[in-house]
Amino acid sequence: MIRVCILGATGSIGVSTLDVIKQHAHQFKVVALTANQDVERLFQQCVEFLPSYAVMADAAAAEQLAARLAHFDEITVLSGVEGLKHVASLPEVDTVMAAIVGGAGLLPTLAAAQAGKRVLLANKEALVMSGQLFLDAVHQHGAQLLPIDSEHNAIFQCMPASFTQHGVKNLTAVGVSRILLTASGGPFRNYPLEQLGSVTPEQACNHPKWKMGRKISVDSATMMNKGLEVIEACWLFNTPPERIEVLIHPQSVIHSMVEYVDGSTLAQLGNPDMRTPIAHALAFPERMTSGVARLNLLEIAKLEFEPMDFARFPCLRLAYEAMQAGGTTTAILNAANEIAVEAFLAGKLRFTAIAELIEQTLSRLNGRAANTLEIILEDDTRARQLAEELLTTL
Ligand SMILES: NC(=O)c1ccc[n+]([C@@H]2O[C@H](COP(=O)([O-])OP(=O)(O)OC[C@H]3O[C@@H](n4cnc5c(N)ncnc54)[C@H](OP(=O)(O)O)[C@@H]3O)[C@@H](O)[C@H]2O)c1
Repeated sequence: MIRVCILGATGSIGVSTLDVIKQHAHQFKVVALTANQDVERLFQQCVEFLPSYAVMADAAAAEQLAARLAHFDEITVLSGVEGLKHVASLPEVDTVMAAIVGGAGLLPTLAAAQAGKRVLLANKEALVMSGQLFLDAVHQHGAQLLPIDSEHNAIFQCMPASFTQHGVKNLTAVGVSRILLTASGGPFRNYPLEQLGSVTPEQACNHPKWKMGRKISVDSATMMNKGLEVIEACWLFNTPPERIEVLIHPQSVIHSMVEYVDGSTLAQLGNPDMRTPIAHALAFPERMTSGVARLNLLEIAKLEFEPMDFARFPCLRLAYEAMQAGGTTTAILNAANEIAVEAFLAGKLRFTAIAELIEQTLSRLNGRAANTLEIILEDDTRARQLAEELLTTL
C-alpha cells in the first residue's frame, strides 16, 4: 500500500491524481489532501477518500472546512503553511504529489524533500526558485524526485537506466548529447502579432491541447511555461541551458526527446493527458493503467515541428537568460511572472506587458548566490514588491 499526500488536491493536477488513484484503490491510501480556499471541492474529496488530514492554506477556509467535517472524527483539519509542511513530512506518508501552483508550493515541497519522501514534482516553480538548494535537500535526506510535467516525465522516460535507476548524474558520460523540449505553441502560435496586446484572459486560457489551471495556461500562452520548464530541466537533468532546445510541435503527441551521441533520438509519445505522467510516477518503476485512451497514430497521421519564435515569445528568452545568470535570478523571474500573470488575469495588465514587467524587474534587481532559503525568499519578496510598483507604470 502506497500512502500519499496530495498538495494542491483541488487543482487540475490534484484532481487527475485522485482520478488515477481511484482506479487503483487497493494500491494507494490517501493520507492527506490540501487546498487553498476551495472548501467545497476539498470537502467532497474528503468525503470520498477519507484522508487522515485535510489542510487549507487559508485560515478562514480551514475553519469552514472543519465545520463541514465536524462529524468526521478521523479527519484532522489543519491550516496555513505549517499545516502544509506538517502533512508533507508525516511519517505515515511515502509519496507526496507536489501540485500547488506557484511559489506558494516551495516550503511544503521542500519539507517533503527534507523528510525523505518520494516527491512527484508538478510544482515547477519550487525548483525554479530554489534549484541547487532543493536538490541538496533531496540528496541529503534520501528523497526521490520524479517529474510530473509531461515534458520532464518524457525526458525521464527516455533517459538511460544509469540515470533513472542508478543515480548517475553526468549525462555526457552516459552518452546524452541534448534534450529536445517540445511546446505546442499555445493559443497564440499563429495569432497576428500586432493584436497580441489586446487578447483577453479567456483567450489566453483557451489552450488548444491541454486543460490546466489558469496560471499555467497563461504561462503557456506567453511561453513562460516553457521557460520555467527549461530551468526545471537544467536542474532535474544536470544540463546547461544551451543543451536544451525548444521545438514547437503543435500536435502535442511527442512530449519531449533525448538525443544521444550515437545519433539516436528517443521520444516519449502519448495523448495529451496528465494522467499518463501521474500514473508513471505513482507506479515507478512499475507501470499501471491511467485511464488515458490509447494513442492512435493513424488518426493523428502527421507530426509537425517548427523552430521556436523568440520574437513572438520574449518570456522564453528571459528564462534562458535568467538561468544563465544563475543564483536568485530565476526566483526573481518567477516572482515577477506571478505578479504579471495575476494582474493580467485580473484585467490590470496587457498580455504583451507581461514580458515587459518581468524584463523591467530583472533589469532593476540583481540576483545573488542562492545559498540559503532566507536569501531566496528575500529576493522573491523584493521582486514581488518591485513588480507591483512597476505595474502602475505599464
Ligand atoms: N495542470 C497541468 O496540466 C500541469 C501540467 C504540468 C505542470 N503543472 C504544474 O502543476 C502545478 C499545479 O498546476 P494546476 O494547473 O493543477 O493548478 P491549479 O488548477 O490552479 O491548482 C492549484 C492548486 O494549488 C492550490 N493553491 C493555490 N494557491 C495556494 C496557496 N497559496 N497555498 C496552498 N495551496 C494553494 C489550489 O487550491 P484552491 O483550489 O483552493 O485554490 C489548488 O489545489 C503548477 O506548478 C503547474 O505549473 C500543471
